[in-house]
Amino acid sequence: MPELSNRTATFTDSVIRRMTRISNKYGAVNLSQGFPDFEPPREILDRLAQVTNEDFHQYSITWGAQNFREALAEKQSRLMGRKIDPNGEIVVTCGSTEAMMAAMMSVTNPGDKVIVFSPFYENYGADAILSGAEPIYVPLVPPEFTFDPDLLEKAISQPGVKALILCNPSNPCGKVFTRKEMELIAELAIRYDIYVITDEVYEHIIYDPYEHIYMATLPGMRERTITCNSLSKTYSITGWRLGYVIASPAITDRVKKVHDFLTVGAAAPLMEAATVGLQFGDDYYAGLKAHYTHMKDLFTDGLASAGLTFTKPQGAYYVLVDISEYGYEDDEQFCIDLAREVGVGAVPGSSFFRENVNHLIRLHFAKQDETLLAAIDRLHDIRKLKR
Ligand SMILES: Cc1ncc(COP(=O)(O)O)c(C=O)c1O
Repeated sequence: MPELSNRTATFTDSVIRRMTRISNKYGAVNLSQGFPDFEPPREILDRLAQVTNEDFHQYSITWGAQNFREALAEKQSRLMGRKIDPNGEIVVTCGSTEAMMAAMMSVTNPGDKVIVFSPFYENYGADAILSGAEPIYVPLVPPEFTFDPDLLEKAISQPGVKALILCNPSNPCGKVFTRKEMELIAELAIRYDIYVITDEVYEHIIYDPYEHIYMATLPGMRERTITCNSLSKTYSITGWRLGYVIASPAITDRVKKVHDFLTVGAAAPLMEAATVGLQFGDDYYAGLKAHYTHMKDLFTDGLASAGLTFTKPQGAYYVLVDISEYGYEDDEQFCIDLAREVGVGAVPGSSFFRENVNHLIRLHFAKQDETLLAAIDRLHDIRKLKR
């Protein structure tokens, strides 16, 4: 048989989703893949039930149903402080995953370089390979996961750099970029004439006193920012696969083409049902933040009571737990043993870092209290993994 493609040979399957399969195999409390085990808002589910009997069963407009885009434009205009045009500036995609891929394909040519902060969400490596771009990694240094401005400039100023990927708030390290950091990135993006592709799926999951700043709202950044986002985390509907790109019409024209030929469009009945969520008032987002703050506090207090050392999230819903003391060389093996012998599913930290890091595992806490308490109870036994 002829060789299969080079581009699909160079990356593995998703470690995150592999760890979910391992978790399921051993009946572990799955804190690996980041999705909630609580219900989406009732109003969205009620609307979904109605939608089955309405006329939403055929393709919608490829770049998203009109009323979904209008509701989204209204919501994001309120948050971003400027009028977003639902017709020219939005493309609805199948999750932020497709939004990021379509953005990368729209911006880069094979051989171009993209700046990626490390640790990073694992999809970005595959996005770069599939679009033919070469990732240039810039470390975020613990405990605050700050970056060295000189190193960033050195990376951005290399020939062939086309874009920087900014995951804010960050998965896996929970960093929320400060205004000063955002301004610095913006200044370099303008000076070296590159795009910024943002992944803002955790925009509403931020803990006091941190604040989400939209890169696209900084002076001079509107034209060169491609905002990728989704409804997955904000409305607890990761399975609905609803995401979007917000960018200038010159960019969305290209994104629309990629999107059209990749997926044709997002699911019409789901867009219709989720429109109700986009119309929620500010109280919904305040409630979401309070709920996540509660889960974070419950979980991190539990980790502390089990004597674990971990990162303090500023946003998103992950912690990186230090496993140095258990004597493992291989963090993936640690996660397999953790699932099998302790009964908790985690993701090896090495899948998020460019650097040689194998002393961290990622756990998420978007779960009901009972689930988190069950995981904490089991984690009290983690020391039996000590070698
Ligand atoms: C940073 C980040 N981006 C994107 C995604 C995937 O988002 P979506 O469900 O919208 O494709 C995730 C999911 O965990 C994520 O953590």
